[in-house]
Amino acid sequence: MKFKDKVVLITGSSRGIGKATALEFAKEGAKVVVNYSNSENEANNVVNEIKKLSSESIAIKCDVSKENEVKEMIEKTITTFNKIDILVNNAGIVFDVSLFEKTQDQWKRTLEVNLIGIFLCSKYASKYMLEKNSGVIVNIASTNGINTTSPNSADYDASKAGIISLTRNMAFELAPKIRVNCIAPGWIDTDMNKDLPKELIKTELENVFLKRFGKPEEIAKGILFLCSEDASYMTGSTLIIDGGHK
Ligand SMILES: NC(=O)c1ccc[n+]([C@@H]2O[C@H](COP(=O)([O-])OP(=O)(O)OC[C@H]3O[C@@H](n4cnc5c(N)ncnc54)[C@H](OP(=O)(O)O)[C@@H]3O)[C@@H](O)[C@H]2O)c1
Repeated sequence: MKFKDKVVLITGSSRGIGKATALEFAKEGAKVVVNYSNSENEANNVVNEIKKLSSESIAIKCDVSKENEVKEMIEKTITTFNKIDILVNNAGIVFDVSLFEKTQDQWKRTLEVNLIGIFLCSKYASKYMLEKNSGVIVNIASTNGINTTSPNSADYDASKAGIISLTRNMAFELAPKIRVNCIAPGWIDTDMNKDLPKELIKTELENVFLKRFGKPEEIAKGILFLCSEDASYMTGSTLIIDGGHK
């Protein structure tokens, strides 16, 4: 078991990529903190699935964009499990609205959750990691932050480009004790994409070399790799997992 007794906090792990990551860590013996902001039942179901795998787990409600809630979440993790070894900054939102119809509030909310949320969770978690002289952080960006053109999600894309930049700055600041890397997924089959127009799905399936959307578990495996000793010389990097894209 690669993560026996490691304490892992995954933001936004009630559903999608975060949920798949929580379960993969549990299979490898980790103690898992399942964070959610709204989906309480889903989060409790993830905790129960983890317990069936004989790992320990708790669910914590916290909006990652709220500093006081983040501070409390990290403190509850420490009082429950005594330490935090791994932080996966996965929580994210998107408003699919055309560029000039998008409101300032939607822009602010996207940046607050997707980008500032990562800053806040990392700020409070890294303090405890530094005390133990080790830790790993993985941030979930997107290929939308690198090379796509998608005006309806311009705010989301900017947040994801920001995550790649923040990852490098955090990796520099926290080295050599803490490694910080980032994953840029392409199209993944989760709730986030459930309302995509059929035409767009058809075009994108043609653009993806492997001719399918990825499964959440395929991103989870990449996250576990970056958190493992197999990635001991990786920090400040962005790992693209997108099935190949034209
Ligand atoms: N799916 C894709 O194609 C794709 C591609 C590239 C990158 N990504 C990124 O991968 C990450 C996960 O996406 P997903 O597809 O798994 O999305 P998803 O299925 O919509 O799940 C999003 C998760 O984030 C949580 N969340 C949302 N706002 C939050 C907040 N303010 N505080 C705490 N948790 C919050 C949700 O919890 P509640 O339900 O409790 O709110 C949920 O667990 C995101 O950062 C996304 O941008 C996804």
